[in-house]
Amino acid sequence: MSHPKLTTLPQWRALQQHFAMIGPKHLRELFAASPQRGERLTVEDVGLYLDYSKQRVDADTLQLLRELAAACALPQRIEAMFHGDRINTTENRAVLHVALRAPATEKILVDGHDVVPDVHAVLDRMAAFAEQVRSGAWLGHGGKRIRNVVSIGIGGSDLGPVMAYEALRDYSRRDMTFRFVSNVDGTDFAEATRDLDAAETLFIVCSKTFTTLETLSNAHAARRWCLAALGDESAVAKHFVAVSTNADEVAKFGIDTANMFGFWDWVGGRYSMDSAIGLSTMLAIGPAQFREMLAGFHAMDEHFRHTPLERNLPALMGLLAIWNTNFLDAATVAVLPYEQYLKRFPAYLQQLTMESNGKHVTLDGAAVDYATGPIYWGEPGTNGQHSFYQLIHQGTRLVPCDFIGFGQTLNPLPAQGGGDQHDLLMANLIAQGEALAFGKTADEVRADGTPEALVPHRTFEGNRPSSTILAAKLTPHVLGTLIALYEHSVFVQGVIWDIDSFDQWGVELGKQLAKTTIAELTAPDEPKLAHDSSTNHLIRRYRQLRDG
Ligand code: F6P
Repeated sequence: MSHPKLTTLPQWRALQQHFAMIGPKHLRELFAASPQRGERLTVEDVGLYLDYSKQRVDADTLQLLRELAAACALPQRIEAMFHGDRINTTENRAVLHVALRAPATEKILVDGHDVVPDVHAVLDRMAAFAEQVRSGAWLGHGGKRIRNVVSIGIGGSDLGPVMAYEALRDYSRRDMTFRFVSNVDGTDFAEATRDLDAAETLFIVCSKTFTTLETLSNAHAARRWCLAALGDESAVAKHFVAVSTNADEVAKFGIDTANMFGFWDWVGGRYSMDSAIGLSTMLAIGPAQFREMLAGFHAMDEHFRHTPLERNLPALMGLLAIWNTNFLDAATVAVLPYEQYLKRFPAYLQQLTMESNGKHVTLDGAAVDYATGPIYWGEPGTNGQHSFYQLIHQGTRLVPCDFIGFGQTLNPLPAQGGGDQHDLLMANLIAQGEALAFGKTADEVRADGTPEALVPHRTFEGNRPSSTILAAKLTPHVLGTLIALYEHSVFVQGVIWDIDSFDQWGVELGKQLAKTTIAELTAPDEPKLAHDSSTNHLIRRYRQLRDG
C-alpha cells in the first residue's frame, strides 16, 4: 500500500521546481495577474463554499498537486477506505467511519459481513432510548425524570460530543442540562456534578476500550456519587449507560449490557462522534436532528468519493495543506470559526488532525524526510483578533488560516447604527482574510501621514495565506458536512505523506510510564527510584508537597 518515497517522486520534484518560481510571488501579484481569481479559485457543493484564492497557489500549482495525488494513488486509497480494506495497517483494521452515516440501503462489507444493518440497529436503539429519556418515560431510581446528562469520556470519546453539543446548542433541549467530564483531575467531575440532583442525573460512560484510566476513574467516582445519594446498587441500572466496543469490561464495571450501545473496532476514537459516542448529542438535539447531522456527513462522503479532484473540497483542502506544510514550510494551521457555537471546534480538530497525522514514519516504517501533520489551533473570531492575530499579521512565522463563517446567525441582535451584529462579525472575518493576503505597504502607510519612525511598525507585509469556508447557517446537517470535510482532508494528507492516519501509538509511552509513577507516588514509604535525576526528584518533591 505504501507508495515510493515521496521526495523521490517526479511529481514532488516538479512541485519543488515550481515552488522556486511561485514561492517568492506575493498574493498581490497573483491577484493582479488573474483578476477573476477570487471567483475562479472557489468551489461550492453540499452546502459549503470554499474560497481558496488567498492561498499562495496558481493553476499550475493545483495541477501539480493533483498529479502528486494521482502518483500517491489518492483515488485508489479513497476507494480502499470506502471499501472496508484494512488501511489502518499497524492495527490491521478497516477504517469505516463513513459506514456510520451510510443510508440503510447501502451495503459495506467487513470480512464479508455487511455492517450497515448493525449501524442502523444501534442508531434505532439510541433513538428509542433518547425518546424515552426526552419524553420523561425513562425514570430515575427514585421515580424522577432525567433532567441532567453527564457524559464521561476522554479524547475521541469526549471532544466530538462536547464540540457537537456546543455547536448545536440552539437545537438542544433547553430544559435539560448537559455536562461533560473528561479530565482525571477530580475538579472536572466535582464541578460538573456539584449542583446536580443524582435522582435526575444520567451518566453516559463513553469509552471505546472501556479501559481508559481517566474515564474509568471518573465512572467510578460517578457511581460512588450516585450511590451516596441514592443509597442502593440497583440505582446503577437507571442512572448509567455505556457506549463501548468492549461488552466484557462494561459488564465488569457493573453496567448491564442491555444498557450498552455498541460500536466497532473499525471506528477510530477520533472518528466516532457520529457513532453511539454521540448519544449525548442525540439526547440533546433529538434523533431526527441527529440523523440530519449524519446526512450532512454522508453528503460530504459522497462528494469526496465521487467528485473529481479539481472540485473535491476535502482533496483541495488536503492538498493545500501539503503545499503550505511542505513547500511554504508552515508549521501550524489556525482554525478561526466566526461562530460562537463552534468554540470547541478547534479543540476537536486538534485530536482529529494531530493524533491522525502526527507521525514520523511511513506505512513501511521508514523515517520520513519531510514534515507531516501541522499543529492545529484556534479560537472563535472576533476574540482571537484581540489576542494572537498580531503574530499572524506581523510576526515572523507563516500561519495559514481557515476562516469559517455563516450567512445567517442563529441569534440576531440589532447592531447599534443599523444592521445586525452578525454583519459586524462577518465584516471582521472578510476583512481579516483581506488584510492577511494584501497587507499594507510602507508607501500606503506613509500616505496616511504616519511619522517615518513608525512606518516599519505599521507596515503589513501581507502574503499570508488563508481559506474561507462559508455556509448558509449552522445546522446539524452543515455541521456534519464541515466535520467530514476535515476528516477527509486529514485522510488526503495522510495518503500523500504515506503515513497511517488511523493509529496513535504515540500516546502509549506516557500512559505506561504513568502506571509506574502512580505506584511510586502512592507507595506508603519513600520508594526506591530508578528514573533520571529530574524525574526522581520531581517524584520526591511532589510527595513532600502533598504530605506537607
Ligand atoms: O489516548 C488516546 C486515545 O486512545 C484516543 O485515541 C481515544 O480517543 C481516547 O484515548 C479514549 O479512548 P477510549 O474511548 O478507549 O476510552
